[in-house]
Amino acid sequence: MTTLVEIRDLRKTYQTGSVRFEALRGISLDVEEGDFAAIMGQSGSGKSTLLHITGGLDQPTAGSVRVGGTMLQAMSERELALFRRAQVGFVFQFFNLIENLNVRANVELPALLKGGQSRRDIHRRCSFLLERLGIADQANKYPWELSGGQQQRVAIARALINQPALLLADEPTGNLDSASGEEVLNILRQFNQQGQTILMVTHAASAAAQADYIFFIRDGLLVDQMPGGDEKAIAQRLADLR
Ligand SMILES: Nc1ncnc2c1ncn2[C@@H]1O[C@H](COP(=O)(O)OP(=O)(O)O)[C@@H](O)[C@H]1O
Ligand SMILES: [Mg+2]
Repeated sequence: MTTLVEIRDLRKTYQTGSVRFEALRGISLDVEEGDFAAIMGQSGSGKSTLLHITGGLDQPTAGSVRVGGTMLQAMSERELALFRRAQVGFVFQFFNLIENLNVRANVELPALLKGGQSRRDIHRRCSFLLERLGIADQANKYPWELSGGQQQRVAIARALINQPALLLADEPTGNLDSASGEEVLNILRQFNQQGQTILMVTHAASAAAQADYIFFIRDGLLVDQMPGGDEKAIAQRLADLR
């Protein structure tokens, strides 16, 4: 197996005025290529901070993140921007679609920004993804015309348009009813089965159960790890963390 994500002794201290807060206190973990990994922990435990740093959206106070052959802490801002565009896709709890762009334009935007591909190829890849996600008939609609579940599927298409090595998802079902949440998880599962590496933050045991394995975080520290599958066992482990 090849390690895709290698996180070593990651620390993040937020400073608000004179108040320092250690959100990450030395986390090390690996995600292998092709894995579907989940991160669980209570609200405020540092999950989003960890995910953002892994995707190059934020910088750690200390420690390192390697994704593929790239050590993020060795990169310039410009290189990081290119890394974010080409190597990672992000899916967020609140979809974060651009309201005045239709579905196709939202999905194609990261590919246009990345450049190096013809409009025709981008159009084709977008159509393929919309088809795969069951929203091909929504291509000309605007985000506000869609249900939450549909918007999240658009966000997944947008995250995958540049064929990233790593898909990062922060509470992707957190704002969805259970049926739409389940659909989104099935979709993530399917992409994973076709080789997409996924790192997903969630506090729902039903979501984490879809993952191959789960990292448990408490107060900025990695405290436990277990395989996915058994929703009840996962919920119990999470409750034990409190
Ligand atoms: N930009 C910030 N400035 C100050 N504190 C922050 C900032 N972002 C997050 N925090 C704090 O760091 C802790 C971890 O936050 P976060 O990573 O969002 O946790 P989670 O995603 O697990 O809920 C929380 O206590 C939060 O209040
Ligand atoms: Mg969070």
